[in-house]
Amino acid sequence: MQATAIAHPNVALIKYWGKRDRDTNLPAVGSLSLTLSGLETRTTIWLDKDSTEDQLVLNGQPDSSATARARLCLDLLRERAGIEAGASVESTNNFPTAAGLASSASGFAALVKAGAAALGIDADADALAGVARIGSGSAPRSLYDGIVVLENRESDTATGSVHCATISAPDNWPLAVMVVITSSAAKEIGSTEGMELSRKTSPYYQAWLDTHQADLDAALGAVREQDFDALAELSERSCLKMHAVAMTSQTPLFYWSAATVACMQRVWELRRSGVPVFFTIDAGPQVKAVCLPEVATQVKAELARVQGVQDVIECGLGQGAWVES
Ligand code: PMV
Repeated sequence: MQATAIAHPNVALIKYWGKRDRDTNLPAVGSLSLTLSGLETRTTIWLDKDSTEDQLVLNGQPDSSATARARLCLDLLRERAGIEAGASVESTNNFPTAAGLASSASGFAALVKAGAAALGIDADADALAGVARIGSGSAPRSLYDGIVVLENRESDTATGSVHCATISAPDNWPLAVMVVITSSAAKEIGSTEGMELSRKTSPYYQAWLDTHQADLDAALGAVREQDFDALAELSERSCLKMHAVAMTSQTPLFYWSAATVACMQRVWELRRSGVPVFFTIDAGPQVKAVCLPEVATQVKAELARVQGVQDVIECGLGQGAWVES
């Protein structure tokens, strides 16, 4: 009745922004992501059959909003196992929490993996993905290795299931990812609230939905052919489209800082000079620069020199969430 799981966050190259269905937390669009080695969430769950309470302690602090979301996932797992027991959950991140570094993705991937193990459920990654998406729309992707697609299937609306797959294992096409920290403050508006605002108020939201699948299909082709330049163009485009939707929401969701923009410009300068690197940015001011491993040292040094950059964490492609034996 106790288990520990570890999960890496992931970063989307073809982004998801907007929910198809608020209740099931299903994304309105598919996405393509990289599971990142180097950053991790470690979660331990203890179950107590004499209790009905759940409590989640995140980085040493009880967290009521994370507890409420975790409870939804744990309820599904308990129902599946036919076991009633309260859960004490202790989760720690080795990177800044809620600052646009996908801590909710690794958090909920680790939670469902540890929860299933503690309850003795023999569930495959697809079954756990269907539970993890209740906590965070991007969490299912952290259950899978390397380069991952989360499909957008119409039929999932009724079933609430999620379909993900690894399309390229970590050593099939190794990519390096520099996570550039420009601020470690938690964001003011979380992505769930932000994307709901965009759906309701951005004049660009429908265009985002209408043009998204073509980007995803083209990016899948670029990964299959290991065409870095094509993946670079498509990923930056998807990122800028997502931020255009966010910025034109009412009230505006402007996640960038001056250092974010300076990093974007440095990445473009590097690419123009022949260095294989591109950027992506989630709902926060951090920049993730994706490059080929042979230029990783150079890209890291160049970005560390940009004014306002606090730290650059070097990541590679990692494995999906696993249970510690
Ligand atoms: O996992 P959520 O529901 O908090 O949404 C994350 C959304 C982005 O990180 C901004 C984009 C993505 O596809 O990961």
